[in-house]
Amino acid sequence: MKRDSVPGFRLNPDTLRCSKPIDRSFRLGLFRAVQLQRTFLKWAGGKTKLVSVIRGLVPTDAKRLIEPFVGSGAVAINLDFPAAILADGNADLMGVYRELQRGGKRFMAQCERLFTPDANSAVVYYERRAEFNTTTNRRRKAALFVYLNRHGYNGLCRYNSRGGFNVPFGRYKAPGFPAAPMAVFHDRLARCELQAADFRPIIAAAGPGDFVYCDPPYVPASATANFTAYSKTAFGPIEQADLAKACRDAALRGACAVISNHDNSTTRALYAGADERHELLVGRRISCRPGGRTAVPELIVVYRPRRQKRGAASAA
Ligand SMILES: C[S@@+](CC[C@H](N)C(=O)[O-])C[C@H]1O[C@@H](n2cnc3c(N)ncnc32)[C@H](O)[C@@H]1O
Repeated sequence: MKRDSVPGFRLNPDTLRCSKPIDRSFRLGLFRAVQLQRTFLKWAGGKTKLVSVIRGLVPTDAKRLIEPFVGSGAVAINLDFPAAILADGNADLMGVYRELQRGGKRFMAQCERLFTPDANSAVVYYERRAEFNTTTNRRRKAALFVYLNRHGYNGLCRYNSRGGFNVPFGRYKAPGFPAAPMAVFHDRLARCELQAADFRPIIAAAGPGDFVYCDPPYVPASATANFTAYSKTAFGPIEQADLAKACRDAALRGACAVISNHDNSTTRALYAGADERHELLVGRRISCRPGGRTAVPELIVVYRPRRQKRGAASAA
């Protein structure tokens, strides 16, 4: 099917801006045209593939990006906002961004020194993992996080019940130091406020002119699937419901809020009241089959800003 023949969907090839709500499923191949900036961290659920779609949903008058689940920053680094609040519940991750923001080239050099060929061994990896779990030196911990992210299994970020990082060695041939994407991210951080926090207070700060992009841990794709990783605390049905409400409230205060998640009966019920619902098929790696890929149905919902009378209170 040709791009412009997808029913209900028109695409401006220059900006890949959606000219009307996407009301049909379509293949991601449509969006390959734009050169995207890579992230320097590997992160489960990274959103590089959805950047073009998300970019098309940004209101023209949006002035600030708020990303409460920033992860590797795939969206933040590819959207050009004059200001941003980047936040995540994972304090180790935000510690890396903070050290990069403060230390710049000095911090990058400290990270790069950990990427020697002899450090790509299980012995060194487990020594450094143990050091990461005990050190109180924030800069050293952040540098070790970058090393573990690139040398650990699948770039996972997983903790045991005591909060210890417990991802096994990844057995990569030669993990390279991500100098170029790290330098780009450092430049971008000059315009960003960083917060290691739960999503609720972060979204509560959104108002007119803000574009809130939420990429939470997804609801399980099916009754048998269950994904948890990034942090020491769970993200269950209460968090999913609180997120939907926080985004509705943000729109009532004048912000635009966009959320991505699996497309299933749970999320359709959760977001039944959204202003737009976009259905997508996204190519994803299947963890149980090396090199295996499948197209996963995803949902992007949008709450458009409500113009409020001055002094009106936020309603649910
Ligand atoms: C799907 S990932 C985001 C991926 C990101 N969009 C990217 O491109 O890399 C979900 C993120 O939510 C964070 N998270 C989990 N629970 C949270 C909470 N209660 N508040 C804020 N962030 C949370 C995780 O640490 C993780 O980084």
